Amino acid sequence: MQLVQRIVFVFFASVLALGGCQLNTGVKVIKMGHAQVVSHPVHQAMVFLGERLEEKSGGKLKVKVYPNQQLGTERELIELLQIGSVGMTKVSAASLEAFSPEISVLGLPYLFRDDAHISQVLQGEIGKELLLSTEKFWLRGLCFYDAGKRSFYSKTKPIETPADLEGLKIRVQESKMAINMIRGMGGSPTPVSYGELYTALQQGIVDAAENNPPSFYNSRHYEVCGYYAIDEHTAIPDVVLVSSEVWNDLNKEEQRWLQEAADESAVYQTKLWKEAVEEALREVQKAGVKISYPSKEPFLEKVAGVYAQVFQEQKQLEALVQRIQQTTK
Ligand code: GCU
Repeated sequence: MQLVQRIVFVFFASVLALGGCQLNTGVKVIKMGHAQVVSHPVHQAMVFLGERLEEKSGGKLKVKVYPNQQLGTERELIELLQIGSVGMTKVSAASLEAFSPEISVLGLPYLFRDDAHISQVLQGEIGKELLLSTEKFWLRGLCFYDAGKRSFYSKTKPIETPADLEGLKIRVQESKMAINMIRGMGGSPTPVSYGELYTALQQGIVDAAENNPPSFYNSRHYEVCGYYAIDEHTAIPDVVLVSSEVWNDLNKEEQRWLQEAADESAVYQTKLWKEAVEEALREVQKAGVKISYPSKEPFLEKVAGVYAQVFQEQKQLEALVQRIQQTTK
């Protein structure tokens, strides 16, 4: 959507449902925007969050979900939350890097040992600290959503070793950590927003990208990229955010309802996620995509260099990474 159209849309959407203000009816409606299509499990989880909130509050608090970048890209949504004209969003943790250097460590390749380690970190003390680390920027993290593991998909040949990245333009999220990672592995990183990626792949502006299976499937990028090599280089979670403007406007009880509804939606989303991964892999394969499971060793060999580069630029992140690595329960 063009910027002007989007501003007009946000304005009219604001009239229908305020960032988080009370309508004449005494009902508060919180606008929640995100970048995924409605068939994606994160959208369904957000709708569930709204239903739980409505139930808990006896209909006094509602969430209206705007999918598909209708209110803006992830970066724009974050800015709209900061000024309180959109109340809530769900973004990739990578989109929050500019607001919290601590959160950027979640984009380090092969940071987690396995799925149990991911939930020990994200559901524990470190996760709580990370969720609140953007508060000074008027953004409050409510919970994490599972965004699985990211792997490479490409147009002309599978990316099964770092050597296959050479000479290829790889789309990355608008994230310095992702740029460092691709560079460290030997590819040419090109930041492109999620909504523009289909066309960028189609027109050859980039040769490849990387994402989790449900996003590869729901974005229809598989129509352009026939190879999906499951190297699972990162496990960057999604974050459900509320604008501090909206949060501070809620009384203690309303804040509790919202936090509980978000936590319950995260449990529901994890369940949906597992099924969505299986479905996505099945469907893209049916459509002709060649899926491979390359050895992770050659990618792991590049990791030390990527970490060293990051710590050279941001020394303070080393201690946090060590804490994450030492987390065992
Ligand atoms: C994932 C993530 C999205 C993000 C996307 C991307 O799908 O859940 O929030 O927009 O990756 O690669 O940009």
